[in-house]
Amino acid sequence: MTPTELKALVRTIPDFPKQGIQFRDITTLIGHGPGFSASVDWLAEQVEGSEAVAGMEARGFIFGAAVAARLGLPFLPIRKPGKLPCEVIGVDYELEYGMDRLELDPQSVSDGPSVAIVDDLLATGGTARAATKLLREAGATVTTAAFVIDLPDLGGSSRLLAENVAVRALMD
Ligand code: PRP
Ligand code: ADE
Repeated sequence: MTPTELKALVRTIPDFPKQGIQFRDITTLIGHGPGFSASVDWLAEQVEGSEAVAGMEARGFIFGAAVAARLGLPFLPIRKPGKLPCEVIGVDYELEYGMDRLELDPQSVSDGPSVAIVDDLLATGGTARAATKLLREAGATVTTAAFVIDLPDLGGSSRLLAENVAVRALMD
């Protein structure tokens, strides 16, 4: 499938979850078998050569776990607060529509591996920067983040680049 065909599978919901937000909904993309598979293939190509894939709860789990399985790599779940049953490291961060927190089991990262971040969407970059911070604190090397959608007006890509993380996105 072409990037244009894949883009047509993303649904836009105005004013969700707040007034003024154009919500780019990947439910319709993952609900289309060939579209989901082609998106995972594209993401997997971008992160090939990494030693593990990290994904952020919840939508990052959908694509990140699929990419890790396709490449035969470990998947590192970066979770919302209070979900991991172990000692965690955590970071608070700002979203386009609020605040949130992410946590990681530092023991899931063995020292120095190259970990790629995969998520459905890059907006302000707050989530991906928080994930980068956690992974690096746990000893990982993070140089690549791959997304299905980039919202370029929100500046996430340049914020990640400033942290030495290269951004790849299937569509804007
Ligand atoms: C969405 C999306 C990204 C993040 C992008 O997740 O899946 O993770 O926002 O925004 P940012 O670049 O401004 O940080 P959300 O926090 O809405 O949670 P969800 O995956 O549980 O729906
Ligand atoms: N996460 C942050 N901003 C978003 C948007 N506009 N659409 C979907 N998910 C998002």
